Amino acid sequence: MDARQMKIKAAEAALDYVEDGMRLGIGTGSTAEEFVRLLAEKVAAGFRVVGVPTSERTARLCLDLGVPLKSLDELPELDMTVDGADEVDRKLRLIKGGGGALLREKIVACASERMIVIADESKVVDVLGAFKLPIEVNPFGQVATRIAIERVASRLGLTGDVVVRASGDGPFMTDGGHLILDASFGRIPDAEALASELNAIPGVVEHGLFIGIATLAIIAGPSGARILT
Ligand code: 5RP
Repeated sequence: MDARQMKIKAAEAALDYVEDGMRLGIGTGSTAEEFVRLLAEKVAAGFRVVGVPTSERTARLCLDLGVPLKSLDELPELDMTVDGADEVDRKLRLIKGGGGALLREKIVACASERMIVIADESKVVDVLGAFKLPIEVNPFGQVATRIAIERVASRLGLTGDVVVRASGDGPFMTDGGHLILDASFGRIPDAEALASELNAIPGVVEHGLFIGIATLAIIAGPSGARILT
């Protein structure tokens, strides 16, 4: 089974949790896109769901495939969100934001009763941090914000480059008009402490540590999908 087939396996398993009439948060990334494709087939067959997309990219795919959408302001309380992740540990703590959609992903997931993560085995880790931690920051004062991030990280024993994410000739801009700083801290033994320190920095809009948000993860491997709760 190749990487794409594993993503499809996880997405298929997530579809079993979707009930007719649900208000669904719809994630961003290649795994979430497999979920959208499968969901669109069910919608075409008469299944009624309304989605709230976590990015413009996901919104475009949903619209192309005929998945009905509303904004989070129109549907502020959701039954469930299905989204991918860059890393997931055994306590369902996540790193997200590889696709740059972490702010909307976190807002939508937190407005949902449940968040189901879909991922392949390569995303499961013992300790978060091998994947660079995405941190969304306001462009104003970005250098001061980066220095503040490095200071709090260093207090927690974390070091490593914190670099503005690039796209083409310029910086990557999020759907909300912010920058992403990718922090190569390596292992993050106390993700809760780092999350709360980052939350206290004014220029940090949001960070990719999702703690206490995911309720279940569907992990696809070569021999099928398993559930983490
Ligand atoms: C986007 C995300 C994605 O869920 C994450 O990057 C995983 O993407 P993929 O399914 O393509 O590996 O957080 O901001």
